[in-house]
Amino acid sequence: MVRFESVGLRYGGNGGQHPSPEVLHDISFELPEGMFCWLRGASGAGKTSLLRLMYLAVLPTSGRLTLLGADIGRTPRASLPHLRRRIGVVFQDFRLLAHLTAFENVALPLRLAGGAEAQIRADVTELLRWVGLGRKLHVLPRALSGGEQQRVAIARAVIARPRLLLADEPTGNMDEEQAERLMVLLRELNRIGTTVVVASHNDALMNRHPAAALRLEDGRLVRGA
Ligand SMILES: Nc1ncnc2c1ncn2[C@@H]1O[C@H](COP(=O)(O)OP(=O)(O)O)[C@@H](O)[C@H]1O
Ligand SMILES: [Mg+2]
Repeated sequence: MVRFESVGLRYGGNGGQHPSPEVLHDISFELPEGMFCWLRGASGAGKTSLLRLMYLAVLPTSGRLTLLGADIGRTPRASLPHLRRRIGVVFQDFRLLAHLTAFENVALPLRLAGGAEAQIRADVTELLRWVGLGRKLHVLPRALSGGEQQRVAIARAVIARPRLLLADEPTGNMDEEQAERLMVLLRELNRIGTTVVVASHNDALMNRHPAAALRLEDGRLVRGA
């Protein structure tokens, strides 16, 4: 599903006379399909950067990255968006479109993929009900609480049935009860077959939900996390 072999990352690439510093060093690990995995590490350790590699927002500057069976270094750039569509991302800051309702935000990936309107309507309504927002379908993001916006962001990330779901500190804006509810949601998605990676530095939450973990320290993977 995901394989990193000695992957390094510099923002801005290797080129130029003054290359920017490497922020991820010699990262090697493998995530089998269907796994739930925490991505741990202090602020600045490189969690967001590692997730960016996993959704192809940035490409490795060294090493080899294999995603969903494709060796990224050997995949034509034009094919990357196709791969990218099978990966769902929940951003730390949600990135909902402010002028679109919850329903329209979640429908967007299906519309872009050219889905049939009646099917879109049924699927989006069902998923928003499932995340507990059945009565807020037509509400704009600014009228939703942080936790509700988070659930819209999660619904948007999973509506197109990604094989890999990445979430960047998704409980950052939540109280403990909301965080627990989010965990139930993520575990359920995992149970029905989605591979899930969640970056977090919420130790209490991770201790309550033991799972496999990758731990980053200063851009390096630490074993035995
Ligand atoms: N767009 C960027 N350009 C240059 N450096 C960056 C960029 N984003 C993050 N960094 C640097 O990469 C390192 C890891 O950051 P990040 O991946 O955001 O860590 P975390 O998510 O664990 O807090 C930090 O030193 C940060 O300053
Ligand atoms: Mg981060």
